[in-house]
Amino acid sequence: MTLSIQDKLFHEIIDGLQANPASISPKFFYDELGSSLFQAITHLEEYYPTRVEREIMQSKLSQITQAIASVDVIVELGAGNCEKVRPLLETIAPKQYRALDISADFLETALANLHHDYPAIDMRAIAADITQELSFPDLQDQRILFFYSGSSIGNFNPPEASRLFSNLARECHGSGGLLIGVDLVKDIHVLERAYNDILGVTAAFNLNALRHLNYLIGSNFAIRGWEHYAFFNQTLDRIEMHLRAKSDQLVSWPGGHRQFFAGEMIHTENSYKYPKATFLKMLQEAGFTQVTAWTDPESNFLVCFAEFK
Ligand code: AVI
Repeated sequence: MTLSIQDKLFHEIIDGLQANPASISPKFFYDELGSSLFQAITHLEEYYPTRVEREIMQSKLSQITQAIASVDVIVELGAGNCEKVRPLLETIAPKQYRALDISADFLETALANLHHDYPAIDMRAIAADITQELSFPDLQDQRILFFYSGSSIGNFNPPEASRLFSNLARECHGSGGLLIGVDLVKDIHVLERAYNDILGVTAAFNLNALRHLNYLIGSNFAIRGWEHYAFFNQTLDRIEMHLRAKSDQLVSWPGGHRQFFAGEMIHTENSYKYPKATFLKMLQEAGFTQVTAWTDPESNFLVCFAEFK
């Protein structure tokens, strides 16, 4: 018996909710509202990664585009609002741009705006779950630049990140490469502040996952019964986000239920932070033969171009 995508999602979610401790994949943050809340996070003063990455991309753009040289196609992973690719489209002028994201609705609107400004570039929105193996058979003869910004790679655990790098290195077929941004390990207060903003936008982003689950699996999470909890795990170099039950919560869904006791948590996200040397080594071990890296003056964030030379 083959399961439909909906059935697979249903089982994936239920398995996570029944596990001890309970967990759900961060991909369930991104319904339409969740994608908008994430955009709001990127404007917060506390959330430095987006801002610092943009500063690096702006101040080092000519070096970055010189290193990349020409490419036929830019494939952006986790493209979101498709805004971060603009400087690359402007300077590299590829023939094609493909935007991959889990939230297709959000992507379509974003891509329509972008196409208006770059009508000569062939653009395609692709709804894709990049935690699964990626394959681009129709791009075999093209020089591809994979673009993965915003430290979204931090939402994979290190072995999964290495697997994705090997997958992308293979899909490059010996030319092109990967331009990637990653958040670096730093002072714990700076890190924890970025995930506990004063306006509560990150809390809303986290809690919205329960609203999304209610829609996806027909569960009855009472969102007021849960609270946002985020901290930096210094042993594993990662921010962990959880939802914590404020009081006992009985949660039901078609065919099942779980009793959560006050204080019990659902793990919703890990956001790994890397030492620079570790990250460069992972890219090289995945098959890229040369990695060039740029950082900001405080070494908060790293932008790398991994290629074949
Ligand atoms: C998308 N990703 C890189 C963000 C991060 O920092 O891990 C998601 C996020 N979670 C809370 N704030 C932002």
